[in-house]
Amino acid sequence: MVFVAITILIIISIVVIVVLLFLLPGLTGAPYVPTPKTNVEKALTKLYPIKSGDFLIDLGAGDGVVLYTATKHGARALGLEINPVLTLIAKWRFRKNRSITMKCRNFYHYDFPKETTVVYAFAVSLHIERIRRKIEHEAGRLGKPIYFISNAFDLKDLKPIKRLDSFYLYRIIPH
Ligand SMILES: C[S@@+](CC[C@H](N)C(=O)[O-])C[C@H]1O[C@@H](n2cnc3c(N)ncnc32)[C@H](O)[C@@H]1O
Repeated sequence: MVFVAITILIIISIVVIVVLLFLLPGLTGAPYVPTPKTNVEKALTKLYPIKSGDFLIDLGAGDGVVLYTATKHGARALGLEINPVLTLIAKWRFRKNRSITMKCRNFYHYDFPKETTVVYAFAVSLHIERIRRKIEHEAGRLGKPIYFISNAFDLKDLKPIKRLDSFYLYRIIPH
């Protein structure tokens, strides 16, 4: 009887931890909802034709679908993901892809590498301006403009240089 109770308690604890890991990031960026592969492909070919020489950062990289698509077109890509389960999955999936780096980090507290050219984010509207300030800060620190692809939400008071379906492309200049 005690054994059954302990087993049930362990299972419930695991379920609660996993649910929290997947939902809590909604407070800082967005909960895990992947961008469909075909949409990413369209964004990285028609909206911002990514190429070798580009270095893309996905802020909240999820399972790494954006990173993979970027490297398919010759770019290098860095994924920052707060959820350790998703980070491990992406690290395992792309363990042989030397153009992908995946880190378990809160993207607000991570200094972008100097080779960064383009940033992707699929965040909820509540956080999009904070993400913009982060990219502006990094553009200032690196002393160069950074392209920003936002999926689903646009920025206040900044006109996108291009729009395609749910995607907005911005050029964030150093402040
Ligand atoms: C809507 S999903 C997008 C996943 C992926 N970028 C895509 O488009 O398929 C947002 C991801 O951001 C992660 N996230 C939210 N806040 C974060 C933060 N502050 N730092 C790192 N990752 C974060 C979540 O765990 C989630 O996986």
